[in-house]
Amino acid sequence: MVDNAPELVRTPRLILRKVTPDDLQAVLEIHGDPKANQFRPSRARSADESRELLDSWLCDWAEHGIGYWAVQVVATGETIGFGGLRHTVRDGEQVLNLYYRFRPRSWGQGYAPEMATAAMSWATRTLPHQPVEILTTTDNTPSRRVAEKLGFTIVRSLQRDGFTDVYMRKVQSAAHPRPAHRDNGIREPAPRN
Ligand SMILES: CC(C)(COP(=O)(O)OP(=O)(O)OC[C@H]1O[C@@H](n2cnc3c(N)ncnc32)[C@H](O)[C@@H]1OP(=O)(O)O)[C@@H](O)C(=O)NCCC(=O)NCCS
Repeated sequence: MVDNAPELVRTPRLILRKVTPDDLQAVLEIHGDPKANQFRPSRARSADESRELLDSWLCDWAEHGIGYWAVQVVATGETIGFGGLRHTVRDGEQVLNLYYRFRPRSWGQGYAPEMATAAMSWATRTLPHQPVEILTTTDNTPSRRVAEKLGFTIVRSLQRDGFTDVYMRKVQSAAHPRPAHRDNGIREPAPRN
């Protein structure tokens, strides 16, 4: 397929590479860490759930030629997080979901925006008609800050499990914007990141 995402990207400080089964330990450490899920503690993954999550990411790459990257620091080789783009359908609309989750000790150094900028650059070049969304919660200031730095704005919110999920969107030049911030009343099943 011509619109396959790159399996290996080099940014100034990071290597972004397609996830592999060997990433399981890092997925367990990061997705099982309550601090890396502090705004939704119930979503800290068990070992089995982390395995399922990684399997679903591997499946994305195998079936759609696009999926999340493992994020490695060039200087140290450490895998500090996971993120990137995957296809999803929301409210019957095909969108790209932009994701990021990093080890707490790496926070505050601009690594997530660096990864996400590379992802957006590819999306803008390759799939300019597809809106890109970030799903987070109102109280997740770090996540919302990353989204804002990239030019995303809140387009809707949903009450779920006592939290307010917010959907932030960046409309690419050729895509159609969604109406401004609204709660459409639809209660979607818990999203899979
Ligand atoms: C959201 C996340 C990926 C941001 O990554 P990052 O590489 O730290 O991004 P940045 O360095 O640009 O920092 C973003 C914001 O985090 C906050 N932040 C910075 N240092 C921090 C620290 N040491 N501890 C907590 N938050 C911090 C600040 O609000 C910062 O915004 P600012 O740059 O305007 O000050 C990271 O916080 C994370 O992995 N969080 C847990 C997973 C998550 O919530 N993912 C979102 C999907 S729902």
